[in-house]
Amino acid sequence: MTHLVDAVAASSERLRARGGAPRVAVLLGTGWASFAARVQGGEVVPYGELPAFPATAVRGHEGRVVLGRIGAHEVIVLAGRQHAYESGEPVGMKGAIRTLAALGVQVLVQTNAAGSLDAALPAGTPMLISDHLNVPQRSPLVGDADAAGDARFVAMTDAYCPRLRAQARAAAQRAGLALAEGVYAWMLGPQFETPAEIRMLRVLGARAVGMSTVPETILARHAGLRVLGLSLITNLAAGLGDEALGHAHTLAAAQAASARSAALLETIVTALEV
Ligand code: HPA
Repeated sequence: MTHLVDAVAASSERLRARGGAPRVAVLLGTGWASFAARVQGGEVVPYGELPAFPATAVRGHEGRVVLGRIGAHEVIVLAGRQHAYESGEPVGMKGAIRTLAALGVQVLVQTNAAGSLDAALPAGTPMLISDHLNVPQRSPLVGDADAAGDARFVAMTDAYCPRLRAQARAAAQRAGLALAEGVYAWMLGPQFETPAEIRMLRVLGARAVGMSTVPETILARHAGLRVLGLSLITNLAAGLGDEALGHAHTLAAAQAASARSAALLETIVTALEV
């Protein structure tokens, strides 16, 4: 057994001892953090107490797990992810995602902040991820001793579950909340894109661009979880607007939309059929 397998077993045991058997996990990216306060009976476990979880260092991405309820669902909320741009490798959330699978989680709801490639999607707009472009063509499964064998050849058709997307769309509509939909392009970062790169991504069919989520979707699909993805648009992408892009700008735009995005996320999670 590898070190990671042991760390996953220890992490899932600790989480099980702290609360229930969640079937739904929510991974909070920039702009979605205030959702954690909506969890009923929230039991907080810092990532530092879970050996399979990463140390997170990016401002706005504090690392902690919250266990509790949203509507009728028992949930586990992961506030904070490690990004591929921190180490150069897209493996930072491998232990955390495998811990979710070991706990019996069946659905992973992913959230992030993203730039918009569509002038009709301004800052503050939420977007359901219909599909993704793995632009760096990096995978967290490469060279993974625990993912050897046929299971590593994961189908990425319907990576973002069509049934969950339909449930999310319907829930937003019932609540009168706007929800766009489109393809998310993953860029390694940490630098923002050039205007030429943004023109390239538009040609490829992307509607939003960001620096996260895709590695976790691959890990989750490999672990047998269904995935739903939501982006909060925080800016028009490079060359499309006149804003100066930077992390402070992303955080400020995310902060401005945070109450609305948390309410939308609660509406959607409550409505999911798991
Ligand atoms: N590009 C990449 N990542 C991002 C952006 C962007 O414009 N906005 C928020 N995250």
